[in-house]
Amino acid sequence: MCGIIGFTGSHSAVPVIIEGLKKLEYRGYDSAGIAVVGSKGISMVKASGKIENLCKKIESGEPIEGNTGIGHTRWATHGVPNDINAHPHMSPDGRFAIVHNGIIENFAELRNELVDRGCTFKSDTDTEVIVHLLSLYYEGDFKKAMMKTVARLEGTYAIGAVCSECPNSIFVTKSFNPMILGVGIGENFFASDVTALVSHTRNVIYLEDGELAELTPDEISVYNAAGKRVEKTISRVMWDTEAAEKGGYEHFMLKEIMEQPNALKSAIEPRVKNGIANLSELNLSDEELRSINHIVITACGSAYYAGCAGKYAIEKLTRIPVSVELASELRYDDPIVDEHTLLIVLSQSGETLDTICAMREMKNRGTHVAAIVNVVGSTIAKLADSVIYTYAGPEIAVATTKGYTTQVAVLYLFAVHAALALGKIDEGEARRLTGEILKIPANIQRAFDLNPQIDELAKKYYNNKSLFFIGRNVDYAVAMEGSLKMKEISYIHSEAYAAGELKHGTIALINEGSPVIAVACYRELFDKMMSNIKEVKARGAEVLGVAIEDMKKIFSEADDVILVPKTEPIFAVTSEIVPLQLLAYYVAKENGCDIDKPRNLAKSVTVE
Ligand code: F6R
Repeated sequence: MCGIIGFTGSHSAVPVIIEGLKKLEYRGYDSAGIAVVGSKGISMVKASGKIENLCKKIESGEPIEGNTGIGHTRWATHGVPNDINAHPHMSPDGRFAIVHNGIIENFAELRNELVDRGCTFKSDTDTEVIVHLLSLYYEGDFKKAMMKTVARLEGTYAIGAVCSECPNSIFVTKSFNPMILGVGIGENFFASDVTALVSHTRNVIYLEDGELAELTPDEISVYNAAGKRVEKTISRVMWDTEAAEKGGYEHFMLKEIMEQPNALKSAIEPRVKNGIANLSELNLSDEELRSINHIVITACGSAYYAGCAGKYAIEKLTRIPVSVELASELRYDDPIVDEHTLLIVLSQSGETLDTICAMREMKNRGTHVAAIVNVVGSTIAKLADSVIYTYAGPEIAVATTKGYTTQVAVLYLFAVHAALALGKIDEGEARRLTGEILKIPANIQRAFDLNPQIDELAKKYYNNKSLFFIGRNVDYAVAMEGSLKMKEISYIHSEAYAAGELKHGTIALINEGSPVIAVACYRELFDKMMSNIKEVKARGAEVLGVAIEDMKKIFSEADDVILVPKTEPIFAVTSEIVPLQLLAYYVAKENGCDIDKPRNLAKSVTVE
């Protein structure tokens, strides 16, 4: 979704801002713009479409001078994507320009009030009210005008503002949307995302909701909502520029698939103590864990499917009932939970609005909230009672891969940790199971041997209008994630079904040549899956079977077969999903799709 960047230093702001906007492209956007403060006031350029359009407009216009500026990539919510609705927005007197991520919920009310006071609006955005308010409240003090403006806003926001009368200052503030300040030497930055900052500095400050910061080239001053100065800690970003670049791969998605063994090592190994999974970050004593009688996992999209996959391992090992809920539903469901419920929230970005809202709703009802999150310092990480980082490194491709597998792996660690604490398994079994989890990175590495075969299979399956994924038990969870990967990046319609459900309706869709991807790795139900494969074959389906390397019987029914490495069945998802990630990738490539930035999608979904 929208991205913001700002710079103030001793050289031209334009190249820094454009470079930052390019780093933010992956979040998804449909227009972009910049505003720079120079000796003659604020210069602003905006363009719909790609950042290249913005660059062309900048090159063909008047030269822009100034060392302080702000930039924005917009993902349209209020108003169509065009040059006028693109950010920044400037006050009619040309004194202020702002960029904004989020949604101002009381914008209609503010707009009416401002119109009554004689303001004229140019755009259809909610954002424009902010710049009018700034102009209205300005009496020669930028900070005061910002504070008065912010006090009027309801909703979610991260705002960067510049003023023609303060050419070396940027003011920024936030509520629910991320705002990260980059601390440089003789230059300072802000951005909605660390990826836009790491090529300049790895020293960052995470701004909290309600705080206001002034950035000048030499200083960053942070104030609380009352305007009092507050001291902030400078954190060090643990990864560097290379981690956020393609590193020779054609697409970020392929790079991130291939990074999975290392990402999983980072997620798993620090959490193994004396050979046994230990999630000390949970901050729950064994006694507290024993008081839990219900676990709710909530998330959106792939993170939700990671929850579906983890449920099987948690229930099997702990015998505590687990419900997996879509965050966008759970938040309105009036859930029946209490202090004996543990809520596990899964989110790669840590900024998904529905997940945040579901989490707040549950927290208000007394549940302990444990968040499994990738992005350090993100909103979900801050709101949770305990945070378990997945340490997957930056995930740039919109379609998650390593984000998903690391979430599943952390759920596996949780399952073993909790089962031991509850006395459901003994230390010997905990050690054995942890040993199996430790093998996951190597198993994924082995699954990469399938790469050439899957590239070939994609050439057979890419030219379809619709695909079906079927599976049973945990394979159904894998099928759902495989199907989502396929549809979001290849734009091929795809459905995932619990294989036993087919005959209750969906089988009507199967006819001559219908492609069915049958995930049949779950040994206990392999024979049932073979029957389901026969069922669809009898109606003319073309079946691509996915099974474990020793389940060769699948060759007798499936038209094509992918055999994945043998693993402990409880922890099989992380390697089973790899061929489906690769299949989606190669099918999308055959179809010439924009793999890293699929249409209509955003990396971090910060709106409802
Ligand atoms: C699909 C995908 C999305 C996300 C979902 C939740 O490939 O990436 O479905 O999983 O939007 O995002 P996070 O994990 O950031 O909360």
